[in-house]
Amino acid sequence: MLDNLISEFDRGLRTLFAPASSARPHPDRDVAEAELSAADKRHALGLMRVNHCGEVCAQALYQGQALTARDPAAREALRHAAFEEVEHLAWTERRIRELGGRPSLFNPLWYTGSLAIGVTAGLLGDKWNLGFLQETEHQVGAHLDSHLSELPAQDDKSRAIVSQMRDDELKHADMAQQLGAASLPLPVKGMMKLSAKLMTVSSYRL
Ligand SMILES: [Fe+2]
Ligand SMILES: [Fe+2]
Repeated sequence: MLDNLISEFDRGLRTLFAPASSARPHPDRDVAEAELSAADKRHALGLMRVNHCGEVCAQALYQGQALTARDPAAREALRHAAFEEVEHLAWTERRIRELGGRPSLFNPLWYTGSLAIGVTAGLLGDKWNLGFLQETEHQVGAHLDSHLSELPAQDDKSRAIVSQMRDDELKHADMAQQLGAASLPLPVKGMMKLSAKLMTVSSYRL
């Protein structure tokens, strides 16, 4: 358990402070950079910062859940999904830099909160843990869908990234379902939407 904690702590520091890397090629690698107005660039940057912060949260949630999940198959699936979330982290991080910005200052705060939520979900038992994961991935998928229409029309690079992420998140939701996710009570889903909204508003700006 102590070894686990130390390695998760190390992973946390890396998520927050070290550049992430991707085994898969970045989805926008063959897409040309478009000419964006200053306003469009700012908007795309804000949206990609939100998505990056979302991926920081995903790291923390998955880590927390993997620490406390009981079933070895569930733990393994969580680790595999977390690996893909690191790739999402790498893609959004690079895109933020290309758009001339930096990641959200609130990342450490959301990371810590999400880790606590992940640990709690894991402690409730595997079916709730997986239910929470499934609902998170559903909500993130829907959110990314909205970004596909919100991103500036010419910003095909950001759109290529968001679109691949959306596909991955829906796959993660299916994985959770297959592993036996329970459906969460409506008020819990509502609370999750509310905290996601707070995260979105804060990281868009700073
Ligand atoms: Fe992701
Ligand atoms: Fe995901």
